[in-house]
Amino acid sequence: MPTTVKGIVAMSKGAPVEVTDIVIPDPGPGEVVVDVKSCGVCHTDFHYREGGISDDYPFLLGHESAGVVSEVGEGVDSVEVGDFVVLNWRAICGDCRACRRGEPWYCFDTHNATQKMTLTDGTELEAALGIGSFAEKTLVAAGQCTKVEESDPSVVGLLGCGVMAGIGAAINTGQVTRGKSVAVIGCGGVGNAAIAGAHLAGASPIIAIDFDEKKLAAAKELGATDTIVSKDLDEDGVVSAVQELTGGFGADVVIDAVGRPETWRQAFYARDLAGTVVLVGVPTPEMELSVPLADVFGRGGSLKSSWYGDCLPDRDFPMLVDLYKQGRLPLEKFVTERISIDGVEDAFAKMGRGEVLRSVVEF
Ligand SMILES: NC(=O)c1ccc[n+]([C@@H]2O[C@H](COP(=O)([O-])OP(=O)(O)OC[C@H]3O[C@@H](n4cnc5c(N)ncnc54)[C@H](O)[C@@H]3O)[C@@H](O)[C@H]2O)c1
Ligand SMILES: [Zn+2]
Ligand SMILES: [Zn+2]
Repeated sequence: MPTTVKGIVAMSKGAPVEVTDIVIPDPGPGEVVVDVKSCGVCHTDFHYREGGISDDYPFLLGHESAGVVSEVGEGVDSVEVGDFVVLNWRAICGDCRACRRGEPWYCFDTHNATQKMTLTDGTELEAALGIGSFAEKTLVAAGQCTKVEESDPSVVGLLGCGVMAGIGAAINTGQVTRGKSVAVIGCGGVGNAAIAGAHLAGASPIIAIDFDEKKLAAAKELGATDTIVSKDLDEDGVVSAVQELTGGFGADVVIDAVGRPETWRQAFYARDLAGTVVLVGVPTPEMELSVPLADVFGRGGSLKSSWYGDCLPDRDFPMLVDLYKQGRLPLEKFVTERISIDGVEDAFAKMGRGEVLRSVVEF
């Protein structure tokens, strides 16, 4: 029987999100219903609310979650009822051009549930990142459930998006290894996870840059060796400050976890010759970039974008949960507050004011 539960829906562009009844269909072939235990508030949910991702309203928001499998559809053998899982938005197909050439982290045809969740009047919902887990239950493809060792859902659920995106931006996309110098622009949940990833890999120095001193205090706790408050600095000021901390040269890897033309240019110029820029912050459609082409050539190196930290959920989530359980990855530091489902709109405002790394809805 389809079930009706409470969920957080963005009905139209820019409007406050609403707690409303949503209908979860019975799982079809290859689908799974999950009892959601936690869901982090990610900036990407706010991008959806603002129309920064697409105009396919209404959206069922939420995508950073852990939960327990409650029903499985026909043919599902990768998970069973009762499994503790972290949800992912990269259920690889195994068959597209990226998968076939051995680069499944770029998979161009990732799986989501085939059926749609709906409002009670039958209106189909577009699930954020194919998940939609600001809800007591959600319907996903079986491959979107990654089984991990049972842990605090609010903590390990963050691996489902922002924390994985940040750690992976450093370790997978940026190929940060011990001894490399790293700078991270924007130290929200994603940027601070990049700092934790760089720390885990043995990078030094690790330079954290943000407008907001509170975010930089958190960055220090997660492994930043130096911090730059960029509120009163222009683009050149940020670049010079990074150069000063890296022997006058710039960092080997600079990660832009904001995703604006000016932060990308800061990353580009704050990088040493032949260094790497990683763009993990998500720009909005109207943004355009202007950089002298001669500088792109002359400075060399690699300019990369990081989709979901180039992660493979089945490989990376259990490994990172393990490191967390061993006390080597302080994932709990990303949870600033635990809230209920009606606190999401408020959590967006706190995110805007820089008061939180992550607000996590608990069910
Ligand atoms: N690539 C991916 O796969 C992926 C995954 C998840 C999130 N994201 C994106 O990453 C970005 C960050 O997400 P978040 O959840 O950490 O957001 P957040 O709002 O928690 O953090 C953003 C941080 O950037 C700082 N900031 C803003 N403008 C700045 C500037 N010009 N200079 C320096 N600091 C500045 C803010 O003070 C804040 O601390 C968002 O764009 C989000 O959509 C990308
Ligand atoms: Zn594929
Ligand atoms: Zn996210």
